Amino acid sequence: MLRTHTCGELRKKDCGKTVALAGWVSRKRSFGKLVFISLRDRFGETQVICNSDENPSLKDLRKESVILAEGKVQERKKGEDNKEMATGEIEVAVKKITILNAAEPLPLDLDNAENNSDEVRLKYRFLDLRRQEMKENLVFRHRVSQAIRKELCSKGFLEIETPFLVRSTPEGARDYLVPSRVHKWHAYALPQSPQIYKQLLMISGFDRYFQLARCFRDEDLRADRQPEFTQVDLEMSFAEQQDVFDVVEGIISKIFSEVMESGIETPFLRLAYKESIERFGTDKPDLRFGLELKDLSKLANDSSSDALSSAECIKCIVTGDLLSRKQADSLSEVARAYKAKGIIAINKENNELSGQFSKFLGDKLKEKLVSLSSGFEKSTIVIVAGKAKTVNEALANVRNELARMLGLIKKDVFKFCWVVDFPLFEWNDNEKRWEPSHHMFTMPKKECLEFLESSPEKVFADCYDLVLNGVELGSGSLRISEPGLQEKVMKVIGLSHEKAREKFGFFLDSFRYGAPPHGGIALGLDRLIAILKNQNDIREFIAFPKNKKAECPMDNSPSIVSEAQIEELGLKLKK
Ligand code: AMO
Repeated sequence: MLRTHTCGELRKKDCGKTVALAGWVSRKRSFGKLVFISLRDRFGETQVICNSDENPSLKDLRKESVILAEGKVQERKKGEDNKEMATGEIEVAVKKITILNAAEPLPLDLDNAENNSDEVRLKYRFLDLRRQEMKENLVFRHRVSQAIRKELCSKGFLEIETPFLVRSTPEGARDYLVPSRVHKWHAYALPQSPQIYKQLLMISGFDRYFQLARCFRDEDLRADRQPEFTQVDLEMSFAEQQDVFDVVEGIISKIFSEVMESGIETPFLRLAYKESIERFGTDKPDLRFGLELKDLSKLANDSSSDALSSAECIKCIVTGDLLSRKQADSLSEVARAYKAKGIIAINKENNELSGQFSKFLGDKLKEKLVSLSSGFEKSTIVIVAGKAKTVNEALANVRNELARMLGLIKKDVFKFCWVVDFPLFEWNDNEKRWEPSHHMFTMPKKECLEFLESSPEKVFADCYDLVLNGVELGSGSLRISEPGLQEKVMKVIGLSHEKAREKFGFFLDSFRYGAPPHGGIALGLDRLIAILKNQNDIREFIAFPKNKKAECPMDNSPSIVSEAQIEELGLKLKK
């Protein structure tokens, strides 16, 4: 190595040693002939002092240049030590400086990141990653990944890689395709998840598999969605739901004890899907705050307003605070974004209801609202009415916004919960067909099997989601391991026998040669890491992410490819 020590290593006990440090010039100050340089590498910073007469090249040396500094470690003078720096008690008096690479002025501001637009940060990602915050994010990610590996290995899981060039796996998003050069008209897909492969590994007898698996999905991007992301993917043979929960809770506990240096209470709370929708309007409830939804539907007739009396569903949230007109308007906007007509805001003070709408309320409805808000002297009650699905969706989002508005979301509070007992299918009203709520390999609950073909809406699944602070962190299920049942499920979602055989023949056949019962789960690693660091944007924890248009401003991908390449693949592009 060119260096003898890293920039975070030297301490008082090293005084007198001759050392060589290499790194980036993060600061440079001159006092007469003396030049003070903060030399930085991955491990920390060390102050080096040079004499500009002896090292004339220093004069024009710019920040972020890479240098090799050779000299002697000495104690800093009294009053000049820096308690905030790990190496703050010492400095290196330099004998020789070698400039390994002189930096040009940087196209982004490393000291004040807020001055850099997202696009510039991504264009110069290799420089953005020099910032302490980004370094800490990637180190954090590394430590979480290692804790996961350690925990799973200790429980007998094997880390096995599965292919990237696959036949498309059905996870509901669009595939990224890779045309084959050898087989014209044929393409591989990049895996949306290793779902089929991990199930095949169970049939091979590997019993406990895991992988920090890269997945690829061509879908609309959001703060917590990237086109390529990482899953903690696992599968277990002879397992029941509780076994999967134990393993996942073990992983999360390990991360908290080893990386977060705190504990987390297990077992996590369990909520049935139905209860979650009733109380929170969503299957991804944020349990860091209350503000639960209360059902008023039975009292619809006790109103002289059409908005309530004709509604299929009426629900409300008692906010526990008097909201301003502006606050109520902004909640209405949230509700409208989810297709509701808006909110009705009613104020309760001294057991009296006020607000423009209260004159439309009958006595029973008034009594109910007063009793629901009895815990608060004053409170605005937010009501949404309409179709049940719309009311739940709108109020779930109003609830989250309210919590932000009222400052109810505390940092560093982590509320995990399992949502269980999902319906096996969801009705797709646009396409007028059933589709799997999770994926088509999910096991229907035994007691619902009789309804599979006649009333798919009555079939519930051995399927579970792990939710953290209102975000879906992971999904999994027990799987179907019997080809007849698998084909029946495929038929309900509109996959004919022929289509099913064409797409998954190899998979269906694999169940005929001794398939153990099995189940598993995949956790979104990027999401987990971001939430543990109280952030929404998973890009902060991915070394080289894509922007919201799935582009990489650094290498300009996706890029136009040469005609020769296109031709070699047997393709023709429409301009
Ligand atoms: P699912 O599709 O629910 O399940 O994905 C599991 C978890 O992966 C994360 N995730 C994402 N993270 C970032 N960007 C994305 N585009 C993205 N899409 C999903 C989420 C999600 O909960 N094969 C099944 C798992 C199984 O049944 O075992 C699967 O992939 O946190």
